[in-house]
Amino acid sequence: MIQVHLAKGRGKSELTVVCLHEKERVPAWVNTATQGAAARAKKLGDFAAKTKETLLLYGDASHPRVLLVGLGARKTSSPERVRRAVGRAIRHARKLNARTVLLSAPNPRPKGPEFAQIAARAAILADYSFDECKGKSPKRALMKVSIEVEGASAATIRESVCVAEGTNLARDLGNRPGNVGTPTHLANEAKRLGKKHGFRVKILLPADIKRLGMGGLIGVAKGSAEPARFIEMEWSPKKVNRKAGTLCLVGKGLTFDSGGISIKPAANMWDMKFDKCGGCAVIGAMSAIAAAKLPIRVVALVPATENMPGAAANKPGDVLTALNGKTIEVLNTDAEGRLILADALAYSARFKPDVILDFATLTGAVMIALGDVRAAVMGNDEALLKAVRAAGDDAGERVWPLPMDEEYGEQVKSSVADVKNLGKGRLAGSIAAGWFLRNFVPEGPSWVHVDIAGVAWNGDVSKGYVAKGATGFGVALAYAYAKARSQA
Ligand code: BES
Ligand code: MN
Ligand code: ZN
Repeated sequence: MIQVHLAKGRGKSELTVVCLHEKERVPAWVNTATQGAAARAKKLGDFAAKTKETLLLYGDASHPRVLLVGLGARKTSSPERVRRAVGRAIRHARKLNARTVLLSAPNPRPKGPEFAQIAARAAILADYSFDECKGKSPKRALMKVSIEVEGASAATIRESVCVAEGTNLARDLGNRPGNVGTPTHLANEAKRLGKKHGFRVKILLPADIKRLGMGGLIGVAKGSAEPARFIEMEWSPKKVNRKAGTLCLVGKGLTFDSGGISIKPAANMWDMKFDKCGGCAVIGAMSAIAAAKLPIRVVALVPATENMPGAAANKPGDVLTALNGKTIEVLNTDAEGRLILADALAYSARFKPDVILDFATLTGAVMIALGDVRAAVMGNDEALLKAVRAAGDDAGERVWPLPMDEEYGEQVKSSVADVKNLGKGRLAGSIAAGWFLRNFVPEGPSWVHVDIAGVAWNGDVSKGYVAKGATGFGVALAYAYAKARSQA
């Protein structure tokens, strides 16, 4: 457990973290606390405040331990650098079993309020680890972090806490193995969170899903013994900016993807418990948005199911009818994400959204294109694509657009049905998937699809604030977009 808040003075702390840029002077109070050791270390060149550099010193009764943390050259500093530095500091604090941490930056860049916002989120992300499956889960004491930078406000720190906790929640849900993190489990979690944060939750059961005619979701769920769920969440605050309209978030909640009859190879199949990370991100984002009480109506939809090769499973060549009446030829049962998203996108029409953002671990191909650095975005509106990119940069969850020429759309037309769930094999697989989805986006709203298959898990742990397993990618981006929109 970790709590982050605004420092009320310097007081006493078991660990005092001082973030410094190269060539920056050690503040007088740090020198006093360390009896001059901090300045001497700088003078001797033992600590030059380069990125990744840290130095632990011992001080007086109020500041028994002082950790100097390098931020690199001030000129070139960035939010990402701050996240990494703070992340490293918090992990160090955890190793030292520090229960109280003072986090200070005498000359922050970006300036105080923004620095505090970035640092607060990074601290909570850095302290995450997934231990609940261990027989004896390690004991972790409560760590209280006070942030001391000039101009920081308690309100922005509180907002960061909402976003970071939403991300860690998405990580928890994503990390749960397939036998625990079932569609039923996701639905129960959504209900619990709705009660906690004050958003409405409605769960559609298999009978409802059939009655409505969600052929894609039914088709994928047929091969599994785990019943499907369709999770609907709505944050409709009293205090709302009417101009912001309705934002709809959609997330792929595929709790285990074996591939179905078009079964995947055994190696790495275990990773397919992470195929629900889009849905988890959307649940985490809803929690963050409601916890922070953003003044915008947000609807979130998560179709949740397993993809298994049971006796009743989808067969290659089967034709399904989606909720909007379009028919789909299933050529590969492993291209299942787009089948369940088709129904969710079509279902969103009933909320008359202005903007739809969907998050999905949709294609292996996106990993070839962009690796684990950026997610891919595709959409039907340049202005929205730009806004999503800006939100991603702001949140430190970066995206990059893929082209949507009509020719790619041709690839998913079927000679048997309206569309087919396979494009030209290995060619432009992510774009073919994006075009497939586009066929199910209601008339009217702007839409962006975020393919997070490359960034949803196994992130770069050395960054300091990225944990093993699920990353929670998408929560901060969706929050940043919703926030910007709520201020429009
Ligand atoms: N969930 C996978 C995508 C995926 C694969 C994510 C590997 C991360 C790592 C998705 O359902 C899938 O299997 N996609 C297929 C589509 C293909 C059959 C057209 C893929 O990418 O191989
Ligand atoms: Mn698949
Ligand atoms: Zn999948």
